[in-house]
Amino acid sequence: MDVPDLKKKFDSSFKKITHLSELESLEKEYLGGKGILKSLILNLKTLSLEEKQKKGSEINSLKVEIEEKLSQKRTDFETLEIEKKLGSPEDSSLPAVPLSLGRFHPITSILEEVIDLFRELGFHVARGPEIESDENNFGALNIPKDHPARDMHDTFYIKDDPEKKLLRTHTSPVQIRLMREEKPPFRMIAPGKVFRHEAIDSTHSSVFHQIEGLVVGENISFSDLKGTLEMANQKLFGASVRSRFRPSYFPFVEPGAEVDISCTLCKGPAPACPVCKGSGWIELLGAGMVHPNVFKAVHYDPKLWTGFAFGMGIERIAMIRYGIEDMRLFYENHLDFLSQF
Ligand code: DAH
Repeated sequence: MDVPDLKKKFDSSFKKITHLSELESLEKEYLGGKGILKSLILNLKTLSLEEKQKKGSEINSLKVEIEEKLSQKRTDFETLEIEKKLGSPEDSSLPAVPLSLGRFHPITSILEEVIDLFRELGFHVARGPEIESDENNFGALNIPKDHPARDMHDTFYIKDDPEKKLLRTHTSPVQIRLMREEKPPFRMIAPGKVFRHEAIDSTHSSVFHQIEGLVVGENISFSDLKGTLEMANQKLFGASVRSRFRPSYFPFVEPGAEVDISCTLCKGPAPACPVCKGSGWIELLGAGMVHPNVFKAVHYDPKLWTGFAFGMGIERIAMIRYGIEDMRLFYENHLDFLSQF
């Protein structure tokens, strides 16, 4: 039989294979030691040199072709065998693999909640850079060089920076940036990260989050400040929460106040309360009426404009809200802590 006929014969038998044992006998028939191809090669001896070369190469390519086809088929059988053993990979009767969904970090949730709350009151969101000038972070906020109030902020200065830039110690510089760009009246909040050179413990971190608020207009008064913050506190901590304004000092406001809320745990002075330590009040944020020197620094006429400002720590709000005693938990990102929120 010549080689093309032999190829046809092989192909037709190959098509009929349905089992590994059939494949193996076909393999033996064609490629085995006493197989068809072997006998063809032995027969070459009887041919002339020219015919030998021609037929020899035909036999060789047929051999390669048969080997490839059989090896592919063998792999198919093996895969089929494995699938049979494992069962179908698409067994629709199996229960679904649960999807593990991510969620917001508690700091992000509180940040978003505070932003939404003030948006409802007509505030817009402003942002400023984390690397600030000395002027925006201190000078224009009525904290001149060598002023003792700078001691309240342990500052990270950028090393060898000719402009003496620093990592902002609070979000208050966004007040300055905004007032330089916009004309009053406006209401804005500025959320973001702030940095202090602090020893880290359960209530201090060198990086934390604040939200600044600033309202400027005509005849803005301290009662506007009180009304706004009382309402915000009730939205954040519950309708029954009371707010207390204590006189305090911040260079960029006058008068300045520290704002406390009634204790959310004991709801009144309880001597052994771990949250308010028996006082009945929790310190929450700083606020006050914008100091005339701040208006002057941004070329606003302090006789024409009045305003109030406030600054609150997001970690602090989250700690009170969720009863968290150690701030470091927010940054360690252990899933057993985070998945509780
Ligand atoms: N910037 C102050 C701080 O980080 C907080 C603050 C107090 C902001 C009073 C204000 C304010 O806007 O009026 O300690």
